[in-house]
Amino acid sequence: MPHKVILDVDTGTDDAIALMCAVLHPDLELIAATTVNGNVPVVNCTENTLRVFDLLGVKVPVYEGLPKPFVRPNFPVPRDKPNPAHGEYLDLPPATSKKQGQNAVDFLIEYYMGPDGPSTTLVPVGPLSNVAMAIRMEPRIVERIPEMVIMGGGHEHGNVTPSAEFNIWADPEGARVAFLSGIPMRVVPLDATWAARTDTAQVEQLRALGTPAAVAAAAFCDRRIQSWNVGATAIHDALALCAVADPSLLVTHHVYADVETFGELTVGRTVFDTHARTGKEPNCHVALDADREKFNALLRDLLGRTA
Ligand code: BDR
Ligand code: CA
Repeated sequence: MPHKVILDVDTGTDDAIALMCAVLHPDLELIAATTVNGNVPVVNCTENTLRVFDLLGVKVPVYEGLPKPFVRPNFPVPRDKPNPAHGEYLDLPPATSKKQGQNAVDFLIEYYMGPDGPSTTLVPVGPLSNVAMAIRMEPRIVERIPEMVIMGGGHEHGNVTPSAEFNIWADPEGARVAFLSGIPMRVVPLDATWAARTDTAQVEQLRALGTPAAVAAAAFCDRRIQSWNVGATAIHDALALCAVADPSLLVTHHVYADVETFGELTVGRTVFDTHARTGKEPNCHVALDADREKFNALLRDLLGRTA
């Protein structure tokens, strides 16, 4: 039986590869995608998500979620131009399929309070605004979500500030609600995603597969590599998604984790208590390392398929 997943995405080039992996993974069943403000405005995330499913020729329900963070009126620093790693829209044909009429938060609540909720892993790979709002609107949902596998945070370093990773920084209060909710969680921070990076030679191997998914993924990786100019890219969100089916991709530690929401220099920082200084019960399995070769081999396997 494939493992049911819902992906909460801010699509985005790496979200797009995660969506493709979810569709093509033989051990996963993608129930729906929910979108949230993040890499691009939420309406662009929705359009991008639909573009990815159209490219693969599949119909997966897409629910649009929050256009803003859980508490803050906007991002801590409003974005004045698109992030070059993602662009304004994915470089794919405009979507012909349509989003669902229901809001993502209402969908998440209805789905998880329903019969299939307890057997469906939630994979948030964008800011945690939808998740926090769903918890706030229906607190019983925390007993119904069996596990969240979250892409977010950084222990050794950040990527927006020296302290903070984008998904957490973009909605620190929302992230804190999710982290402290009691929902079992695995957290996949930058430490793991960069350990599992994909370099230019591996991108060429993907492109050579020639399938629509592999060719598109290679183009997305090109864009990401150009934007950082380090000869490699972390495909953050795909690693978190793939770890649902194969936990051995990650090297995890069972620790207490919280999110900084005040710090002048550290707002949005994930604080992983790796040396048990708080005395608090561990609330997450955090991945501080990952199996790079296994992940890249899996990407070739999945993206070489057609739906
Ligand atoms: C995370 O932030 C976004 O830019 C990516 O899609 C990923 O989810 C990495 O920091
Ligand atoms: Ca993302």
